[in-house]
Amino acid sequence: MKLKTLSLAVGCTLFAAMPLRVALAADEPIQPVPPVKQINLALVELGKKLYFDPRLSKSGFISCNSCHNLSMGGTDNIPTSIGDHWQQGPINAPTVLNSSMNLAQFWDGRAADLQAQAGGPIANPGEMAFSHTLAVHVLESIPQYMREFKQAFGTDRINIDEVTAAIAEFEKTLVTPNSRFDKWLLGDKQALNDTELAGYQLFKNSGCTACHNGPAVGGNSFQKMGIVEPYKGNGVEGRSAVTGKDADRFNFKVPTLRNVELTYPYFHDGAANTLGEAVDTMGRIQLGRKFSADETASIVAFLKTLTGDQPTFLMPILPPSSDNTPRPTPFAAK
Ligand code: HEC
Ligand code: HEC
Repeated sequence: MKLKTLSLAVGCTLFAAMPLRVALAADEPIQPVPPVKQINLALVELGKKLYFDPRLSKSGFISCNSCHNLSMGGTDNIPTSIGDHWQQGPINAPTVLNSSMNLAQFWDGRAADLQAQAGGPIANPGEMAFSHTLAVHVLESIPQYMREFKQAFGTDRINIDEVTAAIAEFEKTLVTPNSRFDKWLLGDKQALNDTELAGYQLFKNSGCTACHNGPAVGGNSFQKMGIVEPYKGNGVEGRSAVTGKDADRFNFKVPTLRNVELTYPYFHDGAANTLGEAVDTMGRIQLGRKFSADETASIVAFLKTLTGDQPTFLMPILPPSSDNTPRPTPFAAK
């Protein structure tokens, strides 16, 4: 605890010097990743444990980190995720990194915020396949969790809203400041080389920033996938599933491009294996533009400068189950 307070304090001193330098970058369409504000540290520590705890799944095998692996950019690096009973889901797992900056959660924006999102996978039969009641039942059987929830919320019983609030609080800390691009934005003109800078100019001038902008370089609007040319996807229709409006068919939340170097494969169906492929497709179907190999390579070089400091922390040690903890139901190969 003491160490953490210290590093937060150091963070504040650094950021106190920022406003002056931010002014330099004010006319750019992308802004630096903002520092985390108003975090409840006790809640973060509890949420971190829950994020890594596979006992929130029916099988006792799948945790949030299974599909949003924090050692791999907050994703699973496979086209579409694998859940309970090895079921392959219909859609690519977006990164949890910087997800607190999203205007809504999921590709179609069906959850308003991180807390609303976090209840979804626990009870989703294709993901963790549990129920909220059973998950709470497991947690209440573990004495150390009972103590930590009491400390965080002052209550003697655990409820699902507390579980999701703690996970969401932890997720708010998963931001990635200090990328080379942010250093450049903040005035360090040596931070990018000529190719990367040329890639950024091309990214701006060809219109990518119409959709990929702001501190997360995306995450702040829903846009059609396939504006100039239709995209042959896997049939998932995106935003219209939420709004019921035909006009929203094939609209998706614009993904953040922060750490995009780490979050392959790309697009909601995970169909683009490489960044070059994704950039080429975007140019063609969103902007009607065919980039040369050199142009694509320079945009890719720029995108790789968006990789920031990855969250680091001690691996959480999870409290042991008690004799009363309901046992998991693992699944086998069919
Ligand atoms: C079986 C794999 C799997 C597990 C387990 C899982 N997720 Fe996800 N997660 C996904 C997929 C796939 C999506 C995208 C679903 C969609 O958009 O319809 C997603 C979406 C999200 C998003 C939205 C990100 C964005 O940009 O829209 C967040 C946040 C998230 N998950 C957090 C969590 C948390 C917290 C847990 C644990 C409680 C969890 N996930 C468990 C696969 C998983
Ligand atoms: C009209 C809005 C729009 C424009 C313009 C646009 N994009 Fe996108 N971009 C999107 C949307 C929406 C997605 C998600 C598409 C999907 O998977 O359904 C996306 C996805 C991506 C991805 C994949 C990210 C991931 O995690 O899956 C990359 C990379 C990307 N865009 C780069 C670019 C580049 C480079 C340009 C300019 C050449 C560009 N985009 C122009 C809206 C746009």
